[in-house]
Amino acid sequence: MPTERQRAMLREMGIGPWWPDDDAARSGDPAASAAPVASPPAAPDAAPVASALDTLSWPALREAVAQCRACALCERRRQTVFGVGNERAQWMIVGEAPGEQEDLLGEPFVGPAGRLLDAMLAALDLTREPGPPERQVYIANTLKCRPPGNRNPQPDELARCEPFLVRQIQLVQPRILLAMGRFAVQSLLRTDEPIGRLRGRVHAYRGVPLVVTYHPAYLLRQPADKAKAWDDLCLAAETLARRGG
Ligand code: URA
Repeated sequence: MPTERQRAMLREMGIGPWWPDDDAARSGDPAASAAPVASPPAAPDAAPVASALDTLSWPALREAVAQCRACALCERRRQTVFGVGNERAQWMIVGEAPGEQEDLLGEPFVGPAGRLLDAMLAALDLTREPGPPERQVYIANTLKCRPPGNRNPQPDELARCEPFLVRQIQLVQPRILLAMGRFAVQSLLRTDEPIGRLRGRVHAYRGVPLVVTYHPAYLLRQPADKAKAWDDLCLAAETLARRGG
């Protein structure tokens, strides 16, 4: 349950309320506390503010995402797509936005691009599935809702959704970040430089080493660049190993 301060901030942002009404909860009247909360306002609402999320626990953050109506993408989503994997993974992978399969299943990277990503991870003995923690990754997207027709994310959508990703990174505390594709890179590194100019070296996001690579969907269209993506993954693995991971 969010604190009073968080509730105030989240209310301001148009996120929630999903918690029971205070007075009703205090009165112990289950009918009153189960009273329906006000129906969600029409999108778009105020954007989430990173500082308002920075003490949210995983369940509260997940719920904030599920209730988000900060941009028009909420109107057409089947569900939000939060993230998957070990919540304290050493590796955190950031993609772009849910596609059709992800919108249907509520998990990132479950379509064709996801199968390629899983294969690339498996080649490094990494997985999103339960297992030894050092082998597990955490995967999240810059956008938590599917853009219609899989169009590119819009700048205002990225900006409104970014605080959720920021909080996910704070909670995971990864030792290595892998940013896949233009939109993840632009969000995390605040640059318009093309991937080709950014890959091959180690960047930093708030003190966490960050490696840039191509998006798996791009690699499906340009298989010749898979070798470069493999080099990027190896660079990330070497960087982690140098840090004692
Ligand atoms: N592409 C992404 O960037 N993320 C997904 O979850 C699926 C496809």
